[in-house]
Amino acid sequence: MASTSTGWYPVARATDVGTTPLPVGAGGRAFVVVRLRLEGEVSAFPARCPHRLVPLATATVRDGRLRCPAHGWGFDGEGRCVDIPSLGATGTPPPRADLATPWAVEERHGWVWLAPDRTALPSPPRPAAPPSPERPPAPAGPPGPVFDNLDPSLEHAWHPVALSRELRPGGWLQVRLLGRNRTLRREGPVLSVEPPVHGVRERLGVIWLAPAEPADVPLEVPEAADRRFVSRWLPPLRSPGPAGPMADTFLDATHGPFVHAATIDPSDGAEVGFPEVRREPGGFTSVQEQWCDNPVDPEVARGGRPLRQRRRTSYTFRAPFQLRLRQEFLDSGATTTIVYLLQPEDLDSSRLYVCLLLSTGPGQPLPTPATAAGQIALQQRILDEDIRSQAALQLAGLPLDGRDELHVPADARGVALRQALCDFVAVSRRQLAA
Ligand code: FES
Ligand SMILES: [Fe+2]
Repeated sequence: MASTSTGWYPVARATDVGTTPLPVGAGGRAFVVVRLRLEGEVSAFPARCPHRLVPLATATVRDGRLRCPAHGWGFDGEGRCVDIPSLGATGTPPPRADLATPWAVEERHGWVWLAPDRTALPSPPRPAAPPSPERPPAPAGPPGPVFDNLDPSLEHAWHPVALSRELRPGGWLQVRLLGRNRTLRREGPVLSVEPPVHGVRERLGVIWLAPAEPADVPLEVPEAADRRFVSRWLPPLRSPGPAGPMADTFLDATHGPFVHAATIDPSDGAEVGFPEVRREPGGFTSVQEQWCDNPVDPEVARGGRPLRQRRRTSYTFRAPFQLRLRQEFLDSGATTTIVYLLQPEDLDSSRLYVCLLLSTGPGQPLPTPATAAGQIALQQRILDEDIRSQAALQLAGLPLDGRDELHVPADARGVALRQALCDFVAVSRRQLAA
């Protein structure tokens, strides 16, 4: 049950509140206060966006609205959601998208005051002494369960723990998985692990461990055996947060224009309809078609094809954290596939393995090393942006109760991810009980 805090709380000096949201605390609860116009009145909002719970302290003010940085939802001074870009120009935000604002906010005696819940006093009292505002608490997570990096079900899966190339013959490597250290050794063709685990194997150029009997379904990557593709692993990266929200980001096409505004052309990937999802053993596949520019197609320069081309994007997800994203230009056949694998190291740490598989299409020469290097550099910039936004999220895991977030039609894959993880938990529990 939500806690109630009656009374007025001084939260910030009025002069300290401008057009950048300021995190504040009132009655032990976290809020942000902000002016949506220069020198305008102060508005107060809850600490998190209702969509994917991004802290609104990272929001910006534009055109008199508060804009969430993740997917651009816009809120007016009363907290009403007035814009959800993924709904398109004609879409209307649902009432549940409105922010649950505090009962009142008022500027008085040089201070901004909050009354989180209804209170008998209509206005803040004149303070007898200079007020001392509370230290802003961290924004609370969702009330319901989250899927975190130490979920017991994760014992029952194959996890990537290193690229094969990171472990030389005769060498050893310490890896962190599910809150424990393990030592990997390679002696000739044999891989061994201390302390022992249920299984160790190499697949797709990656070393995998299964702490207990695995219940997951391996991700298939047909491009890895296709001679029309060149493949390159990026150097592994680390995200200071749980793997679930990171997987959610990789499945989400609507954060691009906001989180990746500096690296991806905003016209790239204008959606054609909402995603559809087909459930499969261990996960799902979702196919979506988009229009985007294809300046690297040599036929564009020769006038054989238009710059704007149709691209099909297929997402294949396998629980707990394996994803293949295949982007195919339908006219030329040029294809970029990205494989994302996540290693849950600790509650607040995930290691990330990303492989690019590139093809210029049937009958075409292989992509040049320069093309591959350019694509890798671009992916690295994109991943850095994703990791920065994950660091700001401050969530213990991926919320599993549908009531704790607000899903819109563009979130179909995010909903499927949550369902697939719930299914995975159920399957591994059955395995444990058997
Ligand atoms: S718009 Fe705020 S989290 Fe998506
Ligand atoms: Fe991203």
